Amino acid sequence: MPEEVIIVRESKNLSGTVNVSGAKNSALKLIAASILGQGESVIHNVPLISDIDIMCKVVERLGGKVTREGHTLRVDTAAVADRETPYELVSKMRASISALGPMVARFGHARVAMPGGCQIGARKIDMHLVGMSVLGVKFEVDHGFLEASAPNGLHGGDIMLEFASVGATENTMMTAVVAQGRTTIENAAREPEIVDLANMLNEMGCKVHGAGNSTIEIEGVSLESLHPCEHTTVGDRIEAGTFLVGGALMGGPLRVEGIDPAFLRMAIIKLKQMGCLVETGEDWIEVRRVGDLKPTDIQTLPHPGFPTDLQAQFMLLCALAKGSSLVTENVFENRFMFAEEIMRMGADVSLDGHHAVVQGVDKLEGAPVSCTDLRGGAALVLAGIAAEGETIIHDIHHIDRGYEDYVGKLAALGANVRRGTLGQSDVWR
Ligand code: UD1
Repeated sequence: MPEEVIIVRESKNLSGTVNVSGAKNSALKLIAASILGQGESVIHNVPLISDIDIMCKVVERLGGKVTREGHTLRVDTAAVADRETPYELVSKMRASISALGPMVARFGHARVAMPGGCQIGARKIDMHLVGMSVLGVKFEVDHGFLEASAPNGLHGGDIMLEFASVGATENTMMTAVVAQGRTTIENAAREPEIVDLANMLNEMGCKVHGAGNSTIEIEGVSLESLHPCEHTTVGDRIEAGTFLVGGALMGGPLRVEGIDPAFLRMAIIKLKQMGCLVETGEDWIEVRRVGDLKPTDIQTLPHPGFPTDLQAQFMLLCALAKGSSLVTENVFENRFMFAEEIMRMGADVSLDGHHAVVQGVDKLEGAPVSCTDLRGGAALVLAGIAAEGETIIHDIHHIDRGYEDYVGKLAALGANVRRGTLGQSDVWR
């Protein structure tokens, strides 16, 4: 079968306005949470990306019905039954594990294939299990499946997470909402997507307080009292940050709309340190740059620290800055796969464990490259826009997992980019 690739040529600028889609990392969990509503929940602003298709399939395999009208999903979970979440879906997307909490909450039992997905470091689920165990959930591993059950019912408890894990906070929260009594989650993740999930849970009748802070308190309610709801997904801060990097790289001015600037405070600080002018409004951010890109140091941390999901994009900016930058990855192991690819385009990066020393170069050169993960893939397309000549990007299914119409949005901002079939790169529109 011919391979679909993204073909990019050096472009003059990226400027104009782009609308940000709903947050992938929020919408995925909102779909899973609708299992708790036991009826038809309506979720607006859901991005058209392949990861969402997988989560819809998860709900359908469990017995639910999902219909889509544009960016609105109707997720009817009335007929969801105590079935297993199959390997074929969990192996494609690790976030399928988000069905675990809501299924245990609804049925007192769940059977979920052990996750695979994006190969960024070890990505264990031990903290999900530790948190849920405090609530009375017992786990067994059976032929590659995780079997969870609550033989004595679910009860509230005090949980202290070892690390502010997004997935562990979410699964624990979605289980605790129906556990008898009060649950406290300390060292909880503070990402905006956690707040969005807590808001939807509360709209369904749950009692979650403090989401967005490092202590979340949950007052358990009865499953029967929960009901479906209508909810709008927050904007995707990582998509917004990716386009802002594009504007910073090429000069802009580039404005992203549909995003709360408070979600990207650390990224905005870094853009300013790198010599960009950044303006913000209630739901927009605009970046422009006149002088050279300045080097900076970046270390990824849980929110509100610098997001690991923007590390590759900012490494690209560092690669073209006047001087040397240090990028430190603290959230995931092995998240420097992107570095190997931009080195093939002429970037000067030295890797040492979870540190990358990036010595800025004057120019990148177009080359054939491969997406190794979702965010690195998006950064490679931006690299191609700035690089001399033509860049052909392979394995673009990674990009389709998380960016709605990435190529179309970039082209509307002036990029010389298109999707094509390998062997036809000479056919240029
Ligand atoms: C979510 C996001 C992902 C983002 C990440 C960190 C989704 C679908 N994905 O992933 O885009 O990069 O947050 O912001 O929302 N860990 C353990 N044990 C656990 C859980 C996590 O060791 O039980 C480790 C992981 O291996 C990783 C780190 O903790 O090194 C962070 O993981 P976590 O915050 O849970 O990220 P995800 O929820 O997987």
